[in-house]
Amino acid sequence: MSSAALTLGPADILAQSLLRLPQLVRIHQPNNKIFVENLALFQSALKTLWAQEGQVDLRVHRGRLYINKARLNFAPSLQVTAAKLMEFFETRNFFGFSFTPKDDLSSDDTLSFIRVVNSCQPQAEPAKYLSEALKESWAKPILDDNFKITYLFTDEPATSGRPLVWNSTPTSEGSKAKRHYSRAMAELTKLNSSLTGATGLVNFAKSRRVVQDMAESLFRNENILLSLSTIREYDDYTCSHCVNVAILSMCLGRRLGLGKMDVATLGLGGLFHDLGKVDIPIDLIRKPGKFTDLEYEEVKKHPLNSVCRILSLNADHGFKAKLLLPPYEHHLNLNLSGYPESSRRVPLSLFGRIVAITDLYDALTSSRSYRPVPISPEKALEIMIKKSGVEIDSLLLKVFINMVGVYPVGTILLLDTRQVVMVKSTPTTAEGGRPQAYVLEKEDSDIRKGELVDLAEKDHNGQFLRNILYCFHPTEFGLMPTDVLL
Ligand SMILES: [Fe+2]
Ligand SMILES: [Fe+2]
Repeated sequence: MSSAALTLGPADILAQSLLRLPQLVRIHQPNNKIFVENLALFQSALKTLWAQEGQVDLRVHRGRLYINKARLNFAPSLQVTAAKLMEFFETRNFFGFSFTPKDDLSSDDTLSFIRVVNSCQPQAEPAKYLSEALKESWAKPILDDNFKITYLFTDEPATSGRPLVWNSTPTSEGSKAKRHYSRAMAELTKLNSSLTGATGLVNFAKSRRVVQDMAESLFRNENILLSLSTIREYDDYTCSHCVNVAILSMCLGRRLGLGKMDVATLGLGGLFHDLGKVDIPIDLIRKPGKFTDLEYEEVKKHPLNSVCRILSLNADHGFKAKLLLPPYEHHLNLNLSGYPESSRRVPLSLFGRIVAITDLYDALTSSRSYRPVPISPEKALEIMIKKSGVEIDSLLLKVFINMVGVYPVGTILLLDTRQVVMVKSTPTTAEGGRPQAYVLEKEDSDIRKGELVDLAEKDHNGQFLRNILYCFHPTEFGLMPTDVLL
């Protein structure tokens, strides 16, 4: 494995010169000394990497830079450069560059590549423009985030000696919960298409039953339902987002001591909170980049649209009335800023405050068209803590953080023992938020569940046996948490 070698000079230099050259070419003539020096640095770094690696893919993935499969660990003095380079890619909606070895790479080749990179910025779709302009080039933009990290695993055989249970039959509770999730997704997809379709007929009773089943599951085993919420269907963001918001809201409601019926009502409110988005053109919902003022005004209508949509559902009026507040209030802040704007001074409802928290958390931690790289759970919670007491109910947020944990169920952690683990459950005691987790073991192309370890475990000197180095989203490993945990 050559990852160690790649953390040295050439990768640093490549990143630094790739960031500098587009700026330098704007202010200097091609024969300028600084420009020529940087051009030479870029070329020699690339040639060194080509000699080591063959094809060189420099890419950003979930807030980190990689060359091929190796993560780049920059020296502290280069951290700003790394952050700026990632921003450079992210703001132009591509993931990096793929450099194919070219024996006779000349300064002219590099200069014309840099000029193309520079000219993509004012384009409406910079990534598309780049891919077209560099179609025949030795340097091409990376347009997809189809990337799996495998280098963390050593090639040594598993040492735990425990039986591998990757393909074991799921527990009946687990498979039930999984079924509920798929049914909720299927119902919501149907609901969306029926709302946008000609008939307008909606099987509201079915959605209600699905959520009630999920509530039943929750009262039996919270961790199973929580692990389901880390699943994301990337091609159908709105549906999986709504199901996740429903699950997280129900779990939070249960933690607050709500009864089964209230939890189910809250879940339905969460499931329908963004229903009004069906009234907004899909291109606008999926728009990469920022909204114009006019577009934002259109998007801001969706809470009220949701209310209207719920009112038009074929169901009992009294019950529908109970579902209206979370959709109406989920973009209103605790201090009543946010939208829809109104002159009301009535505090937000409990269900509204709950869905506001779960909606924000799920939106931050998932990939979106305007932010292909999701924010990590720790970072998302950090952002939310900053809003606590002003925009978000601080007490509810505390309970929520306790519930999802800094390392939510399904998260993958790299430990200082070089073990890679998947979080099984959030801690019941507050031992530094340290969860229980399964050691993941690699066998051929499969990743399997091994030994269960408690990260709160200490040695006889009172030192933790295992410490967390990095935290990853399961999709970085191409894993579904439920496949491993259930
Ligand atoms: Fe919303
Ligand atoms: Fe939402």
